[in-house]
This record gives sequence, C-alpha cells and structure tokens, in this order.
Amino acid sequence: MGYNSQVIESGEFWDFYWEVRLQALEDLGKAEAIRAVSDLIRTRAQRGDQPLRLLELGCGEGQIIGTLVEAHAQVRSINASIGVDYSARAIEACRRTYPGMKFICGDFTDRSLLAELGQFEIVLLVNALHEVFSSVHIPESGEVDVPSAKRQVEKALEGAVERLAPGGTLALFDGLEPAGDPQEVLRIRFRDGQARRRFEIFTQEYRPFRPRFREVDGPTCVELSRRDFTRYITKSIFLGKQLWQTERLESYQYYNEGEFREAAARLGLTLFHVRTLTANYEKWRGEVEIETSGVDFPEEHILILANKGS
Ligand SMILES: C[S@@+](CC[C@H](N)C(=O)[O-])C[C@H]1O[C@@H](n2cnc3c(N)ncnc32)[C@H](O)[C@@H]1O
Repeated sequence: MGYNSQVIESGEFWDFYWEVRLQALEDLGKAEAIRAVSDLIRTRAQRGDQPLRLLELGCGEGQIIGTLVEAHAQVRSINASIGVDYSARAIEACRRTYPGMKFICGDFTDRSLLAELGQFEIVLLVNALHEVFSSVHIPESGEVDVPSAKRQVEKALEGAVERLAPGGTLALFDGLEPAGDPQEVLRIRFRDGQARRRFEIFTQEYRPFRPRFREVDGPTCVELSRRDFTRYITKSIFLGKQLWQTERLESYQYYNEGEFREAAARLGLTLFHVRTLTANYEKWRGEVEIETSGVDFPEEHILILANKGS
C-alpha cells in the first residue's frame, strides 16, 4: 500500500498506525513510550535533523527499537540504529525478527563496550534500569543494597548520556516509586480467597525486599506500607504465571519522580516531557480494594524525555 508523504507526516496517520500496530501490546506503558519516541523521530525528521540514529540499552527481543525503526524506515540513517542486551537468547530473537538491524550482545553498564558504538541522536532505556537496580544485593539477606544499587543506576545513566550526540534525547521509561510517604500504612481487602493466596506467595517469594504486613479482622484484610503495597500490586499480574520466576527477583521501583529529576539535572539534561502513569488499574481493582480513605492505586511508571545540551 502506498501513502504520499503528506499523509505520512500527518498526526492522524500515526495515531491510526500505532493504534493498529500496538493492539497486541498488553502493557500499555510500553506503548506509551513507543508513541512518544515515534513523535520525537517525526519531529526531528521534519526539521531535517540528520543523522537520526537510535540506541536501545536493554532491548530485550527488540520490540521497542525494532518496531520504531520499521515504522520510520523512510528516515535516512535510521538503519544505523543499534540494540544492546546481555541475553544471548534475546539477541538471537532480535536478529531473527529484525534481520536488517544491528544488535549487540553485551552489558550496557560496560562504558568501554558502549564507547565503541559511537553516538546517537536518541538513546532509549525502556524497562531496563530497574534490572540494574535489582541486581545489586546484600550477600547475607539477598535483598537489594539500596545505596549501592542506586549508584549503579546513576552510573548506567551516565553511560547512556555519554552515548548521546550533542542535542540528542534520552527516552526513559521505567517503574516509579509513587508520590506519598512510602512508610504510610495502607489497609487493603482482598476480593477473594485466591487473591489472598496470591498475596501470600508474593510475600514469601519476592526477593528484592522483605514485604511486611499485618492481618486485621481475619485473613482477607491486611495493613502494609505504601512501599510494600506498590511492590505487591505491580507484581500481582505475574503471580501464577511463568514470568513470576524472573519478576519475583526485580523491583520496578527505585527512584521517585524527584530523584529522576535530580539525576537528570546532575547529568546536564533538560527535561521536556515527564509523564507518570498507572499501567494496570483495572486488573489491580479485580484483586484488591483499598480501604484507606483518600488513597488510590499508585502511578508507578514514568516516561521521561530529556535533551543533552548542544
Ligand atoms: C524487561 S526487559 C525490557 C526489554 C525492552 N526494553 C522492552 O521494553 O521490550 C529488560 C531487558 O534488559 C536487559 N538487561 C538488563 N540489564 C542489562 C545490562 N546490564 N546489560 C544488558 N542488558 C541488560 C535484560 O536482559 C532484558 O532483556
């Protein structure tokens, strides 16, 4: 099917394109990141910015970078985009699905490896930094060593920003420590016995932190901190699924919005788009009711676009 360039440049065309293309993506947050970066690519392309190359750190099976490069194949130089991941299996899948693109198997926290790749106009970190955070443990307890883990996140961010060409954009999408006091005690009620049993599995098997709770008036109602509630509710969609075996080892949350903003400022980035969102509201409502008045399910994802000075 052929479209003329005027149609391709219109916002309506892209709204329709992504609506159809992203239908299969259950994870709405990720779709949000893809749309935002697509807008950015089009804005830069319309300005005549060249070259226009993407680097995705922690690209997994290439869903983000592959989809974006395919969609914007008419942009000269976009084929020089690169995805990096340390999972050999993921990189094999990338190469199978997107045979025309370049993928590197390696650790994106290794600055010398990244330096060999050159510079890029857009660097993507989508659902990747929380894995860096979750990989730094206290040997005795197996829990995340928060101060060291945050330093690793900051170093990984520094490495990502180094790969940005002057005037380039960092696009970051990841979990967010929600607003409000993390220690505030919230009261929740499970919708049924199955939800309660799933919570029990969460408290026993979740590794990054030891969740604490207290039963109130029998087993269907518990009190726990906002911090633990956020971790439970964001992981609840994986309980009972194969993915739980890896998800139970990772905390999505590491920075709150203020910490993201501070990190960006320290790295000399200018934020021009910050959006916080709730990814699975309806699913969570099916699991529990929040009894603490005035408290709703958390905004636990963040999308940030930030520019490096020219
Ligand atoms: C949750 S997946 C996200 C994949 C992709 N960005 C997406 O959103 O579809 C995170 C990916 O980051 C990769 N990863 C985590 N830490 C990494 C590191 N230090 N170096 C390279 N890859 C890493 C993992 O192997 C995994 O494939």
